Amino acid sequence: MRGLDVAKDEVSPAPSVAAPPEGGRRIIAVGGGKGGIGKSLVSANLGVHFAAQGKRVVLLDADLGGANLHTCLGISAPERTLSDFINRKVETLDQLVAKTSVPGLGLISGALDFLGAANPKYTQKLRLLREITRLDVDYTIIDLGGGTGFNILDFFLIAHHGILTVVPEPTSIENAYRFIKAAYYRKLKTAELAYRLRPVVEEAMADRGSAGMRTPADLVRYVEEREPEGGARLRAELAQFPLELVVNQCRTREEHQLGPAVSDACRKYFGIPMRFLGSIPYDDAVWQSVRRRRPVMIDKPEADASRCIRRIAANLRSGSELLERNGG
Ligand SMILES: Nc1ncnc2c1ncn2[C@@H]1O[C@H](COP(=O)(O)OP(=O)(O)O)[C@@H](O)[C@H]1O
Ligand SMILES: [Mg+2]
Repeated sequence: MRGLDVAKDEVSPAPSVAAPPEGGRRIIAVGGGKGGIGKSLVSANLGVHFAAQGKRVVLLDADLGGANLHTCLGISAPERTLSDFINRKVETLDQLVAKTSVPGLGLISGALDFLGAANPKYTQKLRLLREITRLDVDYTIIDLGGGTGFNILDFFLIAHHGILTVVPEPTSIENAYRFIKAAYYRKLKTAELAYRLRPVVEEAMADRGSAGMRTPADLVRYVEEREPEGGARLRAELAQFPLELVVNQCRTREEHQLGPAVSDACRKYFGIPMRFLGSIPYDDAVWQSVRRRRPVMIDKPEADASRCIRRIAANLRSGSELLERNGG
């Protein structure tokens, strides 16, 4: 049964969100391919920030194996979790939204029972992805688990903003590239199916060595040369890849300056833009607030980390305005 689901997953990836939902609703996914790098820090505090600005926000803990966002927000393990949706005990996600101490900020808790729901079946996942796009709020912020499995990538790819969190360590940067690469090929697959480009993409992959193709950007050029119309659509689709970058736990000036270099390398290699949203310092206020089970923006609003997260939120919003002006 599981084998079948996996096979289906490979031929028909989840559809991407073609246009933003009405009313400027935004889905933000926070990933990074690794645990302990600040995904929950960024998700929870962006949520707190937007809610404080009067927006309606739902945080969705999609770390299906290690959900702990409720602890970051100081609430005990909620009665209902995503498992109840996956197991069809409830039909809509809004039935799962728990109140937090912050007005306007709700939480949908992740599935705590790892065995039951960490591998939702393909149809269950599609149902979940569809419901996420229907949530009637201004911001849905998805806190993703580590790794680069299809389940994680598909959450990332339905978002309008895919925030990649990294820390300034070679292993984390490496994981981030691995994550982008996996997400990129997942996205490519959706586009190649939609534009009937599979044969030429396969040909390109087979030809890789002799055609001098070294990067995914080269692959798109190859396709474009052979199938100009489909290739152009493929390029346009990939240009909408919702990639944004946050560098967390910076201790030195050099580390704070790492962001532009990483996003530049990504643009050259993948041929897709990655917007650098800002960096966050390593700040004692962060781990102290985690021990107090309060988001740092509430615990210490004037801490450096809180200030930096506010700037990241502002950069994110200016990106939303750009998206709206470009009609998508
Ligand atoms: N900027 C920071 N400064 C100090 N400690 C941090 C910072 N970011 C994260 N941490 C510490 O790392 C831990 C893991 O962060 P978390 O956001 O839970 O990571 P993830 O969700 O990626 O697994 C936090 O509990 C906190 O103690
Ligand atoms: Mg986390």
